[in-house]
Amino acid sequence: MDQAGTLRRLVKNGTRKPGISGSKYSEPTSTTIRTVAVTSGKGGVGKTNVVVNLGYALTKLGKRVLIFDADVGLGNITILLGVSAKYNLYHVLSGEKEMEEIMITGPGGMKILPAATGIQDMAQLSGNQKIFLSQEFDRLANNFDILLLDTGAGISSNVTYFCSRAQDVLVIAIPEPTSLTDAYALMKVAKEKHQQKRFNLLVNFANSEGEAKEVYRQLTAVIDKFLPGVTLNYTGYILKDINIPKSVRQQKALLESYPFSKSSKCFENLAERVFEESRAVKSGGIVEGFFDSTKAESFPRR
Ligand SMILES: Nc1ncnc2c1ncn2[C@@H]1O[C@H](COP(=O)(O)OP(=O)(O)OP(=O)(O)O)[C@@H](O)[C@H]1O
Ligand SMILES: [Mg+2]
Repeated sequence: MDQAGTLRRLVKNGTRKPGISGSKYSEPTSTTIRTVAVTSGKGGVGKTNVVVNLGYALTKLGKRVLIFDADVGLGNITILLGVSAKYNLYHVLSGEKEMEEIMITGPGGMKILPAATGIQDMAQLSGNQKIFLSQEFDRLANNFDILLLDTGAGISSNVTYFCSRAQDVLVIAIPEPTSLTDAYALMKVAKEKHQQKRFNLLVNFANSEGEAKEVYRQLTAVIDKFLPGVTLNYTGYILKDINIPKSVRQQKALLESYPFSKSSKCFENLAERVFEESRAVKSGGIVEGFFDSTKAESFPRR
């Protein structure tokens, strides 16, 4: 298959191809799905591990979880979980498969939409592809309670786009100066490009709660000074834990391999926070459409 050629043919008008949007697919009726984009300025700070373990912990709380590997050209969630995916997002964007056809089931019953790996064409999604994906997530929304996006690192247009469409942006930082400056840069770009003003901070690789709070204090000090109007909420921390890389090597979620590990408790606490917030959304009826495709119309079509 000529992958690059197929991708070029994709989704001409940013709308679903004919004959697909019929009875087989449920109409989007719910806007109460909670979407959390997990992101970072610096790479390798633990986003994929957070997505996988937060997702798993949420399934234990009874939530219907959908994970989207939005690191579209370099996704690796399936490898991390030791599950194989015959098809991935590439096949959806090329029109060969539907979202439902590439969806695989991970531990705890969570569903995963795998990204393509090593496909240069996907490093920068076009405006049409972004609109198309927005519409697809709208359509899937009423089958899930939580959508977790693993955005990949940095300030690329894919990353800032996915963050701009999520209700919650969970920025991961670690206690290192480069991580702080990169987290700051990410929020600055997201603010300038997409008017994003609210972020949540999760400190990974923390040696203690105190160290995590110090990271938060330092970041807020910089934001208050240089990014007026931006709010950073403290969401919590994940302890540095040797059992995390061990579980990666075993290709399992940490909460499966080492449920009593010191960082497992941190993931459970994080899941409870996200769970409480999603409940607040449902009962309070906050209408903040996640992946609201009408918003996507403002993106230039190519
Ligand atoms: N709390 C932690 N304690 C110890 N090791 C960790 C912790 N969190 C993540 N790791 C390790 O850090 C490495 C990077 O983690 P991960 O792949 O989740 O990062 P990432 O932010 O998704 O990276 P990328 O930017 O490349 O997508 C992995 O080897 C993982 O095992
Ligand atoms: Mg990753």
